Amino acid sequence: MGLLGDKITIHGGQPLIGRIELKGAKNLVTKAMVAALLGESPSILRDVPDISDVRVVSSLLEIHGVKITNGTEEGELVLDPSAVESAHFAEIDAHAGSSRIPILFCGPLLHRLGEAFIPDLGGCRIGDRPIDYHLEVLRNFGAVVEKQPSGIRMSAPNGLKGTKVELPYPSVGATEQVLLTAVRAEGITELKGAAIEPEIMDLINILQKMGAIISVDTDRVIRIEGVERLEGYTHRALFDRNEAASWASAALATNGDVFVGGARQQEMTTFLNVFRKVGGAFDIEDDGIRFYHPGGELKPVVIETDVHPGFMTDWQQPLVVALTRAKGVSIVHETVYEQRFGFVDALVEMGATIQIHKECLGGQPCRFGQRNFNHSAVISGPSKLHGADIVVPDLRGGFSHLIAALSAEGTSTVSNVGIISRGYENFIQKLEQLGADFVLES
Ligand code: EPU
Repeated sequence: MGLLGDKITIHGGQPLIGRIELKGAKNLVTKAMVAALLGESPSILRDVPDISDVRVVSSLLEIHGVKITNGTEEGELVLDPSAVESAHFAEIDAHAGSSRIPILFCGPLLHRLGEAFIPDLGGCRIGDRPIDYHLEVLRNFGAVVEKQPSGIRMSAPNGLKGTKVELPYPSVGATEQVLLTAVRAEGITELKGAAIEPEIMDLINILQKMGAIISVDTDRVIRIEGVERLEGYTHRALFDRNEAASWASAALATNGDVFVGGARQQEMTTFLNVFRKVGGAFDIEDDGIRFYHPGGELKPVVIETDVHPGFMTDWQQPLVVALTRAKGVSIVHETVYEQRFGFVDALVEMGATIQIHKECLGGQPCRFGQRNFNHSAVISGPSKLHGADIVVPDLRGGFSHLIAALSAEGTSTVSNVGIISRGYENFIQKLEQLGADFVLES
């Protein structure tokens, strides 16, 4: 599994019932692996999921001389940076287009080697996804940034120095960039306008274990006192709350009942409130959360995606499928990415009534309102979805296509499902465990 051309034929209408187990969050684990580059001794990371984004980051680290081996328990990686030498420009190039994580290698590489090269960045096609904040942050620390045809070359002739940064928007990646660079920069760094997602807090936990001094103040301010030396860490990664929300929505849309082992209430409060308002039910246990359709009609909701503690952008796509079954009009205003509704075309083809608008509907005006971006969705239901041949556009949109096919009447063919393995570990095996009726073709 993992080829982009993989195709799955799904016979819909079967409720998903059973139990699955989560591992660590994709959006923490990949950054935690980069943090290992900062240590003088090996790091041990637990609950690493077997997903292609992790494989991409592993190979980028290996190119730089990090030795990666499996630990004693399943999902445990030992990352040994003691042989990190110099950046191998040509080989990194071969990975261009496959991930956005390389931009986060800059700070650690500049500290270790005095230079870094970052290929053109990939990731999901869900908007422009620029890296201007990242480059500005690195320049603030004293990096010299030089754009070249195949990527960006950086150097730090005078070392990196603590600085004051104010982000124009609480970007997750730019906040991580500041953290991974400031911990070894000389002096104090003050970051205003930081993102405070739970995955960022867990990255801070890891950096503190390594020897960093970081305080998170009120009002999105983070202060970092640079230190001269960091050691390796031992850490069990925070669970993947995006995956948890995806299976929760799948349970709701298919009339199912799924126990998501490893899910925790604290990092999902906002999702749980919306899930309940739509008509879903959940039981919170010590070892996970049971999500189910308790019977009765689903209800429409108005959602605005936002940075934490708001409703995460990665939660909307799977939930939209359940909303096609709700009686009435739901609105989803996407305020994090300007183009995250590409996946709805397939749902419309399957019988959903969804209109996309350029206006900011259902909430506060956002950055995209006056800029001609299709970023609000109006979903009118209930609709009965029917099978169709659909093509996965991106990671979260792809998972929503799976849910649509699983909840539809008749047979659907979903192509390009390999993209889903970027962020969902063993999803084919999990679908089997939950009783889905499908055939995988390659
Ligand atoms: N932005 C800029 N300039 C920058 C950086 C970001 O304009 O230099 C903009 C983006 O274009 C976007 C907004 O700021 O409109 C927020 O982007 P952010 O930097 O917060 O996102 P990211 O770090 O690139 C991570 C996750 C995403 C998740 C977002 C929001 C990873 C690898 N990716 O992206 O996850 O949606 O934060 O929480 O951590 C996914 O898992 O499917 C996924 C897309």
